[in-house]
Amino acid sequence: MNISKVFIAGDHAAYDLKNKCKEILANLGFEVIDLGTDSPDISVDYPDFAYELSKKVLETKDSYGVLICGTGIGISIAANRNAGIRCALCHDSFTAKMAREHNDANVLCFGSRVVGIGVVEDMCKVFFNTEFACGRHERRVKKLNSCLN
Ligand code: RB5
Repeated sequence: MNISKVFIAGDHAAYDLKNKCKEILANLGFEVIDLGTDSPDISVDYPDFAYELSKKVLETKDSYGVLICGTGIGISIAANRNAGIRCALCHDSFTAKMAREHNDANVLCFGSRVVGIGVVEDMCKVFFNTEFACGRHERRVKKLNSCLN
């Protein structure tokens, strides 16, 4: 994969795991840009962070994203409302691999109250090292955009 930057963002529930995930990504050699939130103590709204990260991923060539909230559900729903964002809520290295191989996901998402740091490390390694398989999957991924109104 050709990766220029990895943007990362999450809400207050994600703060601690986001910091750990930043370290993992930096150790994998990526330029990591943290778009917040910056405190676990101030309650914030996950759509704000999903929209900000989606904008950055869409406007920055070859960039990818990581989004985290308590479950991963809210923030992935919000991100996927942006045409061109394919945000995959993953739970393990298998789903992270499939998200890239079959769905050409450009944003990896998980829940801080769902997965631990070991699983996050596995998911990051596999997600950012798996190419899109193209072939029949290309046709399907193209339909994701054409279905938007
Ligand atoms: C915040 O308490 C929580 O609702 C949020 O992080 C997320 O899990 C929503 O989907």
